[in-house]
Amino acid sequence: MKKVISILLVLVLSATMFGCANSKGDDAQNSENTAVTSEANDSGNKKVLVAYFSASGNTKAAAEYIAKNKNADTFEIIPKDKYTDEDLDYANDSSRVNIEHDNEEKRNVELEVITPDNWDNYDTVFIGYPIWWGSAAWPVDNFVKQNDFDGKTVIPFCTSASSGLGESGELLKNMSGKGNWLTGQRFSSDVSEDEVKSWVNGLDY
Ligand SMILES: Cc1cc2nc3c(=O)[nH]c(=O)nc-3n(C[C@H](O)[C@H](O)[C@H](O)COP(=O)(O)O)c2cc1C
Repeated sequence: MKKVISILLVLVLSATMFGCANSKGDDAQNSENTAVTSEANDSGNKKVLVAYFSASGNTKAAAEYIAKNKNADTFEIIPKDKYTDEDLDYANDSSRVNIEHDNEEKRNVELEVITPDNWDNYDTVFIGYPIWWGSAAWPVDNFVKQNDFDGKTVIPFCTSASSGLGESGELLKNMSGKGNWLTGQRFSSDVSEDEVKSWVNGLDY
């Protein structure tokens, strides 16, 4: 009889232990699944693009600092007819920039590529440009007009010798007509990585 009771006890104990081990295993699996899902959300739903036009490299440097610190892709807005140093000479009344500045209909700059690859995957788009005569350099206009910003957060930034951001972001927002446009930021032409980093990491979007 004693022997039968001992066998029964052993059976009951091992059944209880197996049950515990099994439920622990389920918990571990569940939390693993949750971690995978949230990781997928982080990388899957928060893709960032830094699109920029830069005639002489300053805005490009700022764009690359943003991309580095946000783990973002970059897209350069390139005019089909690129601006040479002569074109950019605003001290010369008959330079290309002066002619375009004086005639609004000549500011319709055709671009090599309008829409970046995988455009739909980006939910945040930084847009960078130099300031020309107090406004966004017009080669960004067709990028803004011809892409669909619906559902995207858009963050303008610019470089300039001394002018502020002014209404440049606001005017681009009106051209686009879509997207959630944030105020944006102006940097000096020779901005440092630390300055860009502290701005971009302080953004709440
Ligand atoms: C045609 C032209 C107009 C400019 N107008 C202004 C201006 O109104 N205010 C200003 O502070 N800087 C002005 N700048 C200086 C540029 O904004 C500055 O050098 C900028 O960092 C250039 O950026 P990028 O190298 O990316 O082209 C102008 C430059 C050019 C070529």
